[in-house]
Amino acid sequence: MRAWQLWFLCFVVLNADAQKVTSLEEDLADAAFGNFLDPLKDLFDEDEHHSAIAKFSLRNPSHPDDDLCYIVPGKPETLAACAFNSSSKTFLVIHGWTLSGMFESWMPKLVSALYERERTANVVVVDWLSSAQNHYVVAVQKTKAVGREIARFIDWIEETTNLPLDKLHLIGYSLGAHVAGFAGNHASNKVGRITGLDPAGPDFEGEHAHRRLSPDDAHFVDVLHTYTRGSLGLSIGIQQPIGHVDIYPNGGSFQPGCNMRGALEKIANFGIFAINDAVKCEHERSIHLFIDSLLNEQEPAKAYQCGSNDVFDRGMCLSCRKGRCNTVGYSTSQIRRPHSIQMYTKTRASMPFRVYHYQLKIHFSSKVNMSEMEPSLTASLYGTKGEAENLELKLKERLETNRTHSFLLVTETDIGDLLMLKFKWTETNSWSVSNLLKMVSSWWSGNADGVEVHKIRIKSGETQQKRFSLAKGVVCVWFYICHWSEGGT
Ligand SMILES: *[C@@H]1O[C@H](CO)[C@@H](O)[C@H](O)[C@H]1NC(C)=O
Ligand SMILES: *[C@@H]1O[C@H](CO)[C@@H](O)[C@H](O)[C@H]1NC(C)=O
Ligand SMILES: *[C@@H]1O[C@H](CO)[C@@H](O)[C@H](O)[C@H]1NC(C)=O
Repeated sequence: MRAWQLWFLCFVVLNADAQKVTSLEEDLADAAFGNFLDPLKDLFDEDEHHSAIAKFSLRNPSHPDDDLCYIVPGKPETLAACAFNSSSKTFLVIHGWTLSGMFESWMPKLVSALYERERTANVVVVDWLSSAQNHYVVAVQKTKAVGREIARFIDWIEETTNLPLDKLHLIGYSLGAHVAGFAGNHASNKVGRITGLDPAGPDFEGEHAHRRLSPDDAHFVDVLHTYTRGSLGLSIGIQQPIGHVDIYPNGGSFQPGCNMRGALEKIANFGIFAINDAVKCEHERSIHLFIDSLLNEQEPAKAYQCGSNDVFDRGMCLSCRKGRCNTVGYSTSQIRRPHSIQMYTKTRASMPFRVYHYQLKIHFSSKVNMSEMEPSLTASLYGTKGEAENLELKLKERLETNRTHSFLLVTETDIGDLLMLKFKWTETNSWSVSNLLKMVSSWWSGNADGVEVHKIRIKSGETQQKRFSLAKGVVCVWFYICHWSEGGT
């Protein structure tokens, strides 16, 4: 909670700082050039009036970071000049809010990854930097106009080249996700797909569907939420589901490898501009997950439909029946239901992000009341391709005697088909004296059945394979480590 409050403070400071910078720039500009440029002002205004709010640069696979060729609506010759291929897939990549007024470093990476996956595609980068480089609130106000401009571009391209709109895929990040929504909404015909990469939260959370990205904006709208951690109703990424399929990697917050404390220290040392790094890591993770899905087609990450992240964390949602699981990112199956489908997945800290999910169900039985026990539980999995040892089982609730507990287990390595499971119970804290005495007395009486494992079941999310054993497990005695293992099915 404290970290959240701290974060909220930082965000407020960030806004204040952005304001300061802009007004300082304005002040400088006024002071230095104001009088000098006055005679030219009308000319510039005139120019502004006619110049586009958004520019459309068809990037070249061999120069993914350069804007070498612009497609200008109304000028068909620019299509030929940029070598636009109207029988190919076309991507419109739409950036978000910016402090620097420049493209961020993810842009060429995403462009390259799109070309890597779809070699003959047209990857068009939408440049609305001049409007995006404003106070956040102002940039938000401009999103609709930019969306309309993009819609006009889409209409014109469709008219001019007969591009089938099901081959058009808009990819928008942060504020750009809502811009994509407005573009899809205003285009004369429905576009094929919009992918929202951590769509912006402030000013959009809880808004009517027409005022943000929504499932009406394209035939298929899929969304990755990576920074939905909020405080006082403010979250950088939007928390509510807004697409046909909404995926929340790691619950939509706390992305592994994004060290918030490290970022805060950096801010302490390097000042407020380091905040960018903190925001970037988790917010931008959505982009890198998408890039990963483009590049590592052979290692697709899976997400699972679930009522909440809490339930998912207990391993209860690893079913793939009736479309309940899906591929994360580019290859997401296009499932449309009246209500948004919320899905969850865990990831690694870096590319390839995929992990392997397992549900472990254990039935404990005991003659003593287990609710005060706080053991540390680990499991090791051994498979045809490898092993994953000492995976922690997180206890989300108190242990209950004669009940089945369910856990989510995650491995970074592919162990292949599961052959053996080892379960380890280590008593960590001191029990109450009465429990201790009970345990010791039952032990000494030769009736050493402290806690028994009745039944263990394990299910793989990725392969949907299930294994279980009905055999009674090994008796555990306090402070001893006990093993329980299963060979084969
Ligand atoms: C245009 O795209 C189509 C389909 O993706 C492809 O077969 C064709 O070779 C491309 N043309 C050029 C000139 O790259
Ligand atoms: C758990 O079930 C066993 C067998 O049914 C029973 O002997 C034992 O008393 C139960 N334990 C508790 C704490 O209810
Ligand atoms: C176990 O102990 C807890 C408190 O320590 C108590 O609330 C609970 O009712 C007990 N359960 C049983 C089955 O006796």
